[in-house]
Amino acid sequence: MAKKVTKIGVLTSGGDSPGMNAAVRAVVRTGIYHGLEVYGIMRGYSGMIENDIFKMESRSVANIIQRGGTVLKCARSKSFFEPEGRKTAYENLKSHGIDGLVVIGGDGSFRGALKFSNEYDIPCIGIPGTIDKDIAGSDFTIGFDTAVNTAVEAIDKIRDTADAHDRLFIVEVMGRDAGYIALHSGIATGAENILIPETKTDIEELINSLTEKEKRRKLVNLVVVAEGDEFGGANEIAKIIKERLPNADTRVAILGHIQRGGSPTCLDRLIASRMGYHAVESLMEGRHNVMVGIVNNKLAYTPLNLAVKAKQKISKEWMKIVKILAS
Ligand code: F6P
Repeated sequence: MAKKVTKIGVLTSGGDSPGMNAAVRAVVRTGIYHGLEVYGIMRGYSGMIENDIFKMESRSVANIIQRGGTVLKCARSKSFFEPEGRKTAYENLKSHGIDGLVVIGGDGSFRGALKFSNEYDIPCIGIPGTIDKDIAGSDFTIGFDTAVNTAVEAIDKIRDTADAHDRLFIVEVMGRDAGYIALHSGIATGAENILIPETKTDIEELINSLTEKEKRRKLVNLVVVAEGDEFGGANEIAKIIKERLPNADTRVAILGHIQRGGSPTCLDRLIASRMGYHAVESLMEGRHNVMVGIVNNKLAYTPLNLAVKAKQKISKEWMKIVKILAS
């Protein structure tokens, strides 16, 4: 029989993502609804180690559902990956009587939670919060929809100026290990080529496709590249293209961190609210070391070790669609 939780901690970790605030709000208010004490932990695992932990009330999360970033702040803590760091973190949680933890973050954050919960008797529930969508066990991760919409808005604007000058644009979007932002934003903006880390980038094929389009006088060309593509980001790709197609009027645009900010979309607020609610419910039901996700619009639990190991699969059909529609 699992121990009943009475005091829970919540933290946001890794890179921030729009909608994290909505998830924190849901955790705090669901916890209070059930008579639990809820503690906010600042700067992810760093705040756990530094004992930067405070009791939250319902009012602590007022007026944040619409805000990007995270009121709990984010960090990528190196010390938490050392046994000493985790020991100090555990002692700090114990000093507040915290007996359950909700970790909102991406794969690095879940790896930390796994290590921690294997060593100490504090159940952890993960909520996928990352713009990269590189976690298995959920159709959505909090922040992805906002980030991809930000990218689409920016690429649409780039297309206007590309069209006015008959230019070739290489647009770099975020995604160190994952190409979802590139794939989704690329399809949605009619990009001619999309380069992502999950598939081998065939430079010859890219050059051939651009040359062929030039022959057909299709002058506006958008190449969307994920920052983690094996050839490097937009600057590297542009270098190769300029060498091979010196007559093409080529420009580079790197969207960068604007993709991480901004007010979350309705979808991100909704999934954050649902996941936050279910994270607390799962702790109360005695679950531990699982991620709460949403699959086919239903709640789904995935063991944390699988969520980080088994990445989502890029659909081959989607890649085919890119080729057909951009002809
Ligand atoms: O959070 C994910 C992400 O935005 C990646 O897409 C990107 O590679 C990375 O974080 C950037 O991290 P930082 O803000 O620490 O440079």
